[in-house]
Amino acid sequence: MWREAAWLMVLLLLFHQICAAKDDEEHLCPPSSCGKITNIKEPFRLQGDPENCGHKSYELGCENNVSVLYLLSAKYQVEAINYKNYTVRVVDPALQHHNCSSLPLHSLSRSNFSDTYSYHNNLYQAGLSAYDNWESLNFEHIVFLNCKHSVKENRKYVESGECVKWDSEGYAYAVSGDLKAEDFEVGCDVKLVAPTSLRSLNYDSYTAIHRGLAYGFEISWVNLACQKISCSMFSCYFDSKSQNLACSSDGGRRTGSDLEGEGGKKEIGEIEE
Ligand SMILES: *[C@@H]1O[C@H](CO)[C@@H](O)[C@H](O)[C@H]1NC(C)=O
Ligand SMILES: *[C@@H]1O[C@H](CO)[C@@H](O)[C@H](O)[C@H]1NC(C)=O
Ligand SMILES: *[C@@H]1O[C@H](CO)[C@@H](O)[C@H](O)[C@H]1NC(C)=O
Ligand SMILES: *[C@@H]1O[C@H](CO)[C@@H](O)[C@H](O)[C@H]1NC(C)=O
Repeated sequence: MWREAAWLMVLLLLFHQICAAKDDEEHLCPPSSCGKITNIKEPFRLQGDPENCGHKSYELGCENNVSVLYLLSAKYQVEAINYKNYTVRVVDPALQHHNCSSLPLHSLSRSNFSDTYSYHNNLYQAGLSAYDNWESLNFEHIVFLNCKHSVKENRKYVESGECVKWDSEGYAYAVSGDLKAEDFEVGCDVKLVAPTSLRSLNYDSYTAIHRGLAYGFEISWVNLACQKISCSMFSCYFDSKSQNLACSSDGGRRTGSDLEGEGGKKEIGEIEE
């Protein structure tokens, strides 16, 4: 019994030393820059940066003067990195502004982030809480459907006709938000799902939906950021109101309204960068 405890102590000490060393190194790394992204720094690093800079798993590429982020099986163009709220906004490289026929190369939805069997899913979250994809981050799904018949009666179904056609026979639609069972029309196939984080978008024309897709979507590294603070039995999340990491005792938290009550929530001071 004491043997395990001793080993644990040794490991903890080692871990602390590694972390301390890492903090020292961070100060030796000036921000890197590629194209319009000029603030690449810890936890990120740019390909070719000195080895001690940033985390290897948060390495960005630089292709044709564009910063590139590798996410799951795909790569995305980096639009902005926000160190204050631990988010990075990315966009699928196939999406072109003002070309409503351009579509994302890859399907991506909240569920891609909750596959616990893939190590890489731990790098980014589709939410602002460390261990669940809690919906405080604006991460809205756009679902592309191809239907055998025309769907006129459901206003959520926006025709993408002129812009996107899946085959000559079907009727092509895009729906924003999650498809509830009652919204699902018989004879419709899901062709593609892609996220957007553009707020207060008017989703009743396909041009507007496409604008949302081309704006891109935010993902967060709150899971990593949360390793810097200790919430003990509380769970850690980014509190948009105070713009700080915070601890909450309500592990099963699912909706924003739960947050309004105090619910054991306690604020942690500004985390130094
Ligand atoms: C790379 O992008 C930056 C910022 O958009 C621009 O100022 C610069 O001229 C570009 N360089 C090349 C070689 O295209
Ligand atoms: C997300 O999951 C879907 C379904 O498993 C898969 O087809 C898609 O390629 C995944 N997206 C990325 C970017 O890996
Ligand atoms: C618009 O996007 C479509 C689909 O990717 C592509 O085939 C077409 O060439 C693009 N049009 C222009 C003007 O770039
Ligand atoms: C994070 O900060 C950026 C820049 O201020 C802002 O555009 C974005 O909406 C913020 N995201 C969240 C989830 O607070």
